[in-house]
Amino acid sequence: MNAVFDSSDLSSSLKEGLKQIEEAQSSKDLESVHSKYFGSQGLFSLASKSIGSLQKEERKEAGEFFGRCKKEFDGAFLKKKEEVEAKEEKEKLESERVDMTLPFTRFPMGSLHPITLASRKIEAFFTSLGWSLGEGPEIEHAWYNFDALNFPPDHPARQMQDTFYLSPEESCLVLRTQTSSTQVRELISGPLPLYTASIGKVFRSDPLDAFHSPVFHQCEGLAVDEGLSVSDLKGILKALSTYLFGEADIRLRPSYFPFTEPSFEMDMLLGGEGGKWVELAGAGMVHPNVLKSAGVDPGKYTGFAFGIGIERVAMLKYGVKDMHDLVEGDERFSRQFAMGE
Ligand code: PHE
Repeated sequence: MNAVFDSSDLSSSLKEGLKQIEEAQSSKDLESVHSKYFGSQGLFSLASKSIGSLQKEERKEAGEFFGRCKKEFDGAFLKKKEEVEAKEEKEKLESERVDMTLPFTRFPMGSLHPITLASRKIEAFFTSLGWSLGEGPEIEHAWYNFDALNFPPDHPARQMQDTFYLSPEESCLVLRTQTSSTQVRELISGPLPLYTASIGKVFRSDPLDAFHSPVFHQCEGLAVDEGLSVSDLKGILKALSTYLFGEADIRLRPSYFPFTEPSFEMDMLLGGEGGKWVELAGAGMVHPNVLKSAGVDPGKYTGFAFGIGIERVAMLKYGVKDMHDLVEGDERFSRQFAMGE
């Protein structure tokens, strides 16, 4: 059965409702006021329904009265709603305020090792000249490491480099002692003329001390073309030294390597006039026997090759005094060079 419409009840409901709207502190309070009056069992909802059961002539007046009450309620409700929502928005922003000046947890950026920095710089030099970059295996057949490079089987020069041999002996495998082992590989696979550089790890059974490490890095440069001479070799070495260290004087001293003839040690004058000469590379004109090993006609082609110690470059360039620092892998050490140049 429908409730009976009573306008004085509705008036007092409205009065009460307006009071509750006025007292509401939050949008949640307001919501419960709204459902109290307009929910399915709400006082206004019931009143609205009860109008239907009135006599026709009473219905119009009651309807109008209800309409005025509802309008008044809605107006007060919406006004209050805006007010509390603005207040709540303000409180939320206040509570979520972020102090942009507070210190935060830093995630350290990784840093490149000086060997990597020096290697990349050297690679950049050669690629800028249009040279290719090659790579060879670290476990190498003794033929590439020695025989093809003109080391006769029992030549004492094999002992110049303290070789790690892999067992079984018949495998003839060694940890390459020099990146020169890539020379013959490059010559066999690459078309001529050939201008190529390769950087990689090499191994010798030296104990670790301030200047030596059993594992270190070399860059091998190899150019084979018609008419190359020592002056081309010297030009490249001078340009590379200048690229790495700023305007640098270099000199070639006679030396010996089985795979080059003539052979040189290259020194660079460190610290300009009055500075000291430091040894930076082994170099020479590729020995005809090496060209022959790779099937290249030494009557037509000549070549030059050089090998540079990357550790040496890194130590001189970045002022590293002790090899231990380069191999121990302490991140704090690398971090000093994080920015490169
Ligand atoms: N392979 C030589 C060494 O390790 C360096 C070198 C490379 C010398 C190329 C001449 C030509 O000592």
